[in-house]
Amino acid sequence: MTTIRNEALHIQGLGGEKKLSGTLSIEGAKNAALPLLAATLLIDGDVTITNIPSILDTNRSLTLLENLGVTITPGKDHEYTFTIPSECGTELDEEISKHMRASIIFSGPVLARSGSVRFPHPGGCVIGERPIDLFLSGYEALGAAVEKNDDGYVLTAPKDGLKGSNFFFIQQSVTATETLMMAAVMAHGTTVLGNAAVEPEIVDLALFLKKCGARITGEGTHTITIEGTGGVPLTSPEEVYTVMPDRIETGSFLIIGALCAQNLTITNCNPEHVEILTQLLQDSGVPLRVEKDSLHIENNTVPNSDFSSFSIKTHEYPGFPTDLQAPAVIFLTQVTGEAKVFETIFEGRLRYLDDIMYMGADIERLDIHRALVRGPRELEGRRLSSPDIRAGLAYIVAALVAHGESYVSNMMYVDRGYENIEKKLESIGVQVKRVTD
Ligand code: EPU
Repeated sequence: MTTIRNEALHIQGLGGEKKLSGTLSIEGAKNAALPLLAATLLIDGDVTITNIPSILDTNRSLTLLENLGVTITPGKDHEYTFTIPSECGTELDEEISKHMRASIIFSGPVLARSGSVRFPHPGGCVIGERPIDLFLSGYEALGAAVEKNDDGYVLTAPKDGLKGSNFFFIQQSVTATETLMMAAVMAHGTTVLGNAAVEPEIVDLALFLKKCGARITGEGTHTITIEGTGGVPLTSPEEVYTVMPDRIETGSFLIIGALCAQNLTITNCNPEHVEILTQLLQDSGVPLRVEKDSLHIENNTVPNSDFSSFSIKTHEYPGFPTDLQAPAVIFLTQVTGEAKVFETIFEGRLRYLDDIMYMGADIERLDIHRALVRGPRELEGRRLSSPDIRAGLAYIVAALVAHGESYVSNMMYVDRGYENIEKKLESIGVQVKRVTD
């Protein structure tokens, strides 16, 4: 497991100049890799997955799998082969679960495969309350008994296994959809998940499960139907499975390119997954060309103040992703006009605004979910401490457009979601150094 040191990035700001250029290649998606790693627990035998990003959250998930009894053999770059024993453990590693909210994804496959699972209340970023009620009521619908005690949760399936059922999500949830879909794959009978989330990572997971023999229809729509195997594990897929590209890394780099690069090419991505952002940036005036699996910012010589502002309301896919809200706000501080920013998904995801105001941004906080951002304003380099993955990335974007130097500390958050961020930035011309804080 990667050691977590308190490290910072020292970044030399560009002061609004567009000096960067080059090509950035997108890694596999964190939020697709995590459920895929959990899904290996449903398989009997070996499975190889490639394009797994080398980030803190996937490293933690690999340790979690090993602690459940899975043998992991590294292959070529970003590739691992997983050998699943016929009997796996039933306890999710406490330390990892407490630090990584997404660990709850593992509860579904463990429950389905082993008949019970024990885990502490999952921790994670400070972006909001993040309850797990939807997971628990979904498990109950599949026949599991849910016990909550001081240490966390114990879920127990009926003796003959989980039972297919109709379950309607009273709120759309990405990981709850993924987790219940995985639990239902080995249940007896048919499960219909209503008001399911439609994010591309869910489709990626369903494609993988289907390659292993699962019978799933409707992924990518709000009604997913799963015909359970009646307790039989899935089979090893014939091919190596490739994790889809990370749409949030794609969008983050696109924003950096729009603000700081004359020419930037982003490769190995799926532009369809960030259409809301490409559309807004193009409407704003950013010279952006969209190809099938690449994005191109070309001859971006006009000052950022010539771009026009746009309002953001975060929304489930294909709406504006909450994970791109913070980097997009930095864009809005640099362009002309007033933008309304409405964060609808998580109540803690505008906390970072104070630090951006401290850099010089003109932002009016309306309530915990809403703010007005007026631009353009010049930002000054500062010492900043990342509060979570995405706000941390936004601080890096702010440091890049600012005048003077910035230190972005608490890099362990950014490292949870972005592989080798400083190497990538350096490759397009950023003066950046990782230092011990
Ligand atoms: N919710 C409940 N009860 C539940 C589960 C969710 O009320 O049992 C609420 C949440 O509090 C939130 C809303 O439902 O208000 C939607 O959250 P969702 O469950 O969809 O979020 P998630 O599945 O926990 C995933 C991503 C997040 C991303 C969100 C929204 C993974 C591992 N995480 O989280 O990614 O922000 O969907 O798209 O897929 C990140 O990568 O930085 C990150 C936080």
